[in-house]
Amino acid sequence: MAPIQCILSLLCFFSLLINFTSGSNGVEPNGTRWAVLVAGSSGYGNYRHQADVCHAYQILKNGGLKDENIIVFMYDDIAFNEYNPRPGVIINKPHGPDVYEGVPKDYTGDAVTVENLYAVISGNKTAVKGGSGKVLDSGPDDYIFIYYADHGGPGVLEMIDEEIYAKDFVTVLEEKHKAGTFKSMVVYIEACEAGSIFEGLLPNNINIYATTATDSSEPSWGYYCRDLNFPFSGEYDVCLGDLYSIAWLEDSDTHNLRNETLGKQYHVVRHLDYDKTLQSPVMQYGDLELSKEVLYTYIGTNPENDEYTDSIESVVQPMSQARISQRDADLYYFWHKFQRAPEGSPKKLEAQRQLLDELAYRKHVDQSIENIVTTLFGTKDGKMVTNGVRASGQPVVDDWDCLKTFVKTYKEHCGPLKAYGLKYTRAMANMCNAGITMDQIAMASAKACA
Ligand SMILES: *[C@@H]1O[C@H](CO)[C@@H](O)[C@H](O)[C@H]1NC(C)=O
Ligand SMILES: *[C@@H]1O[C@H](CO)[C@@H](O)[C@H](O)[C@H]1NC(C)=O
Ligand SMILES: *[C@@H]1O[C@H](CO)[C@@H](O)[C@H](O)[C@H]1NC(C)=O
Repeated sequence: MAPIQCILSLLCFFSLLINFTSGSNGVEPNGTRWAVLVAGSSGYGNYRHQADVCHAYQILKNGGLKDENIIVFMYDDIAFNEYNPRPGVIINKPHGPDVYEGVPKDYTGDAVTVENLYAVISGNKTAVKGGSGKVLDSGPDDYIFIYYADHGGPGVLEMIDEEIYAKDFVTVLEEKHKAGTFKSMVVYIEACEAGSIFEGLLPNNINIYATTATDSSEPSWGYYCRDLNFPFSGEYDVCLGDLYSIAWLEDSDTHNLRNETLGKQYHVVRHLDYDKTLQSPVMQYGDLELSKEVLYTYIGTNPENDEYTDSIESVVQPMSQARISQRDADLYYFWHKFQRAPEGSPKKLEAQRQLLDELAYRKHVDQSIENIVTTLFGTKDGKMVTNGVRASGQPVVDDWDCLKTFVKTYKEHCGPLKAYGLKYTRAMANMCNAGITMDQIAMASAKACA
């Protein structure tokens, strides 16, 4: 009912009044709101992840959370990067506002580690190395919001040059639940195959609700990318955001979050990010009962948005041609940098070298994985091993130590698994599921990358 008609009806007027003062569920949260925001990448080509995370900070800040309760992980090499056309400023959409201002620098540079992330979530101050030392010092009545944006692969998320393994991450969350140091928690994850972090792993009875940019077998998408239908002012060679992230962030920017449930936002984001032909379904996991709670409980609300009540209208157009697979975003960046640099300039030569290096890297990873698969399974079964996806409800791998060993051994012999290479954790997981031994992994990796 519109407010004007509402005032004519006494009952409605009172309900409006109640909603206004105590949230639409009529219950003001007693606990403290906490948040952990993580951008797991570095490098100017990954501008968008730190932009997403800075933007999330602004929403929490406007929502009423205090800096002492917001813990930020970001490498912090974007704002003052030599390629940033606007030094000291980070934007998250073309012509958008600065989202960098005021962001706490809790864990930057070398302090952006998996160990620190786990220590922060667990609330274990003594386990933290470097950084501000801020941890989730939460109690049984408190609400926690965790948001992560970066590259990933089946069963893994990138954290600079380390991996967060789905099983370990979920174990950290389960232990926090056992410790009784939160009332309920919401986790949002943007990464390729992000669903694999929770699929078959996140229990539905530990008061945690999660949504992910995609399921466990599809990439996620960079958004607001140069020349993809956006009228850029011409300065940026990179994507400024990621699609799932932009969708929830822009939805939260403008709406009265006292009156928007998590489930509603999930549907808004899923609707925007969902294109059947490209199959990038946003997913939800864990305790789905929590999806009935309002966003306000976790991320507060900006009083300026009190007038907004409808969250159905689109914030981002679902234009498939306007997004780019996160795995290809680097190539895309190097290409634009090359195209736009003046003929013969050092920047052009550098971009050309980066482009060629990336192409060579991809070829090397493709070939070395193919080699390993063929060595262990032959050519005939190899394709199934490389591409086979398990049924939903199952984690990507049963023996996580096998997957970890595989990744570690591969890196030792063949070099890093960057954004592109991370897709091959699927092949590694499948080989582990087929029962290969540590010796076979070592032998095949050594042979492939001799
Ligand atoms: C806050 O505390 C009061 C009194 O203990 C209780 O009635 C209310 O349900 C609590 N609110 C929440 C969201 O738990
Ligand atoms: C916190 O971390 C330290 C150092 O890693 C460890 O020894 C200790 O057991 C941890 N405390 C808890 C409560 O887990
Ligand atoms: C909340 O949204 C519902 C419909 O989604 C609407 O009827 C109601 O008036 C809204 N309440 C407030 C306080 O905005």
